[in-house]
Amino acid sequence: MKVQNGWRCSVFFLLYMTHVAWTQRFDVIGPSTDIFALLGEDVTLPASLSPPLNVQRFEVRWVQNDLSSVVLLYWNLQIRPERQMQTYKGRTALFPEELVSGNVSLRLQDVRVSDGGLYRCLVTSERWNEETHLTLNVEVVGTQPSISISTTEDQQTRLECSSEKWSSRPEVTWRDMNGVDVTSQSILTVQRDDEGLLRVSSIIPIKWEFNVFSCLMRSNTTRPAYQSKMGVYVFSPNVSGWSVVFWLSMALCVTATVLLILKWRRMRGESKSCIIKMSSVVLYAHFYN
Ligand SMILES: *[C@@H]1O[C@H](CO)[C@@H](O)[C@H](O)[C@H]1NC(C)=O
Ligand SMILES: *[C@@H]1O[C@H](CO)[C@@H](O)[C@H](O)[C@H]1NC(C)=O
Repeated sequence: MKVQNGWRCSVFFLLYMTHVAWTQRFDVIGPSTDIFALLGEDVTLPASLSPPLNVQRFEVRWVQNDLSSVVLLYWNLQIRPERQMQTYKGRTALFPEELVSGNVSLRLQDVRVSDGGLYRCLVTSERWNEETHLTLNVEVVGTQPSISISTTEDQQTRLECSSEKWSSRPEVTWRDMNGVDVTSQSILTVQRDDEGLLRVSSIIPIKWEFNVFSCLMRSNTTRPAYQSKMGVYVFSPNVSGWSVVFWLSMALCVTATVLLILKWRRMRGESKSCIIKMSSVVLYAHFYN
């Protein structure tokens, strides 16, 4: 009887230990898609344990690319700023009240261009360690596009729409007064500046003598924010009927602006996730002489 009891005890003990070991195992779950943040924004890099164990006594280590680039280290119930890379000092935090439910998401404030890249989140308990990784894309929306007019040597008039400081190549759309998309006639050039940001310039040859052109630059990355700006550029020719042309152009300008805004509102309904920058030009070259 005694022997049997002892045997039972060991079986239960073994099962219990297996159970403990098993319940202490966990996965770290990250997001399934890349994270986007606008320059200067605050962002949360999500990560949590499954099952949702209390991680207060675990080690949580957020690193960038390699293990030695520590973004944040939580160990022995405390965050260890002395182990953190200089560039992240004072900008990172965990959510302390979330740690009991296995939420090890990182809060990153005032996002910089250099913050973009791969992040790894490593969680270590006494018995187990696991990690996840994610990519942070820092999005920089370029300056407001400006349009200028020029004439080439072979007397070809052309418009150039340019904007700088984009983190990714924006979509550029040219439209004429009737709203017709004339982008296919334009040529886009993209250059990278010293900061690694893009300078974008789109050139379109024009032959219409009296027309309104708009140039629209739009970030093509999907994110829930929306931002827009619009500028109007008026080209005034050297003609005698100056004031007529001026007022006519002003009227056109206003109409075009209203039309563009309306069109834009509609577009905004369709694609809330886009960032749009816009500029338009009113052209009436050679109209009066
Ligand atoms: C973790 O906590 C943050 C901040 O409270 C919250 O936004 C996020 O949804 C939480 N994640 C999970 C998986 O509960
Ligand atoms: C944005 O455009 C670039 C280049 O045109 C392309 O490589 C990228 O996949 C696009 N991104 C999205 C989210 O559509």
